Amino acid sequence: MSKNCVNVGLIGFGTIGAGVVKLFSRSAELINRKSGVKVALKKICDIDIKKSRGIKVPKSMLTTKAADVLNDPEIDIVIELIGGYKPAYDFVMAAIKNKKHVVTANKALISKYWAELKSACMKNSVEIMAEASVGGGIPILRGIDKGLAANRIKKITGILNGTCNYILTRMSLEKMDFGAALKEAQKKGFAEADPTLDIEGYDAMHKIIVLSNLSFGANVREKDVYVRGIKDTNAVDILYADELGYVMKLLSVAELDDKGINVRVHPAFVEKSRLLASVNYEYNAVYVKGDAVGETMFYGKGAGEMPTASAVLSDVIYLARNISGEKKPRFKSAAGKGAAVRIKKLDDVRSKFYLRFSVADNAGVLASIAGILGKNNISIESVIQKARHAHEKVPVVIMTYEAREADMKRALKKIDSLEVVKQKTVFYRVV
Ligand code: HSE
Repeated sequence: MSKNCVNVGLIGFGTIGAGVVKLFSRSAELINRKSGVKVALKKICDIDIKKSRGIKVPKSMLTTKAADVLNDPEIDIVIELIGGYKPAYDFVMAAIKNKKHVVTANKALISKYWAELKSACMKNSVEIMAEASVGGGIPILRGIDKGLAANRIKKITGILNGTCNYILTRMSLEKMDFGAALKEAQKKGFAEADPTLDIEGYDAMHKIIVLSNLSFGANVREKDVYVRGIKDTNAVDILYADELGYVMKLLSVAELDDKGINVRVHPAFVEKSRLLASVNYEYNAVYVKGDAVGETMFYGKGAGEMPTASAVLSDVIYLARNISGEKKPRFKSAAGKGAAVRIKKLDDVRSKFYLRFSVADNAGVLASIAGILGKNNISIESVIQKARHAHEKVPVVIMTYEAREADMKRALKKIDSLEVVKQKTVFYRVV
């Protein structure tokens, strides 16, 4: 059945809910275009509808009664963002029974009731989507489910809790103490309402259960998972890890071999040379090994208002597209009506540059090079000049601040034409 407007109801107007409302309003045209149908946010429910969330919402849209969303026959998709088991479970089940599709970020609910929710959805011919439940803004569920569909997944290793990663990163890089780092994570909106879920490892456990059940078609339960959090972390062990060439990370691991899958969450020493070791602050990363693809890694912001809202709305767009019966290829409409994407010329691209000049070691040479750079709007960040040895030419290395390609091209042409410049200047863009 195709429709010309898809209506959405939101239950839970907290940090992520506010992000969803902001993104709905900021990207309305893009959401409609990608969905192939107008997508309207019709109602928002929360127990507190007075508090300011940094976005204006018409009063008529707000309600304190979930039933106003769940029983509204015009609402096609319910977004559940209250978290926890109760009353989220009842709301989601009621939505499904009322033939509404559901989008949720609720990892506790999804990890515990996945089979039950899926079967209720099948019975009622609706779908439940939960991209935001794992890895915040990282499209990891779709990545595994669609992108790696042809693989048998062998192993998943994830940094899946932004709060713990934020705490461990600040303890390690800034020698901050545990309590202060946790407070910062709470202020930034990464931590759960009850932060013990984060620091005791249960949030990461919910997420690795979701990933395991999706990737291995398993039915992993909480009792099957070994969990050790980071609440007892001593700064001394973080320092020893550093000295020994490691960093401490809270890892969530699910591994399949011929004996079955093992699922576990615990802090671990990770060698500094591993990609996972450089995943810092609220960033999450999920390493997935498939039998055909080999090793892959997904990386991005794993917590916070807008990254999580990004995942929620990607699910809404997916569902709206199905509801609308939109069949047009997405790539064609990517630019939008009347908004053809222009190709930007390399000349207009900006980056920092490394420049190595081979020059005669005479008075005033550096000044003339610097003068040409300056005239072309190129500002110098640092200069290295090595002492002269037996040769009459010396290398001079200059690092610049960001400069336009066209300016750099013009400046180098001029510099290379100077008599004191003995070889074509070597340059690299710095990223
Ligand atoms: N409390 C979670 C975290 C939020 O810190 O990762 C995202 O699920």
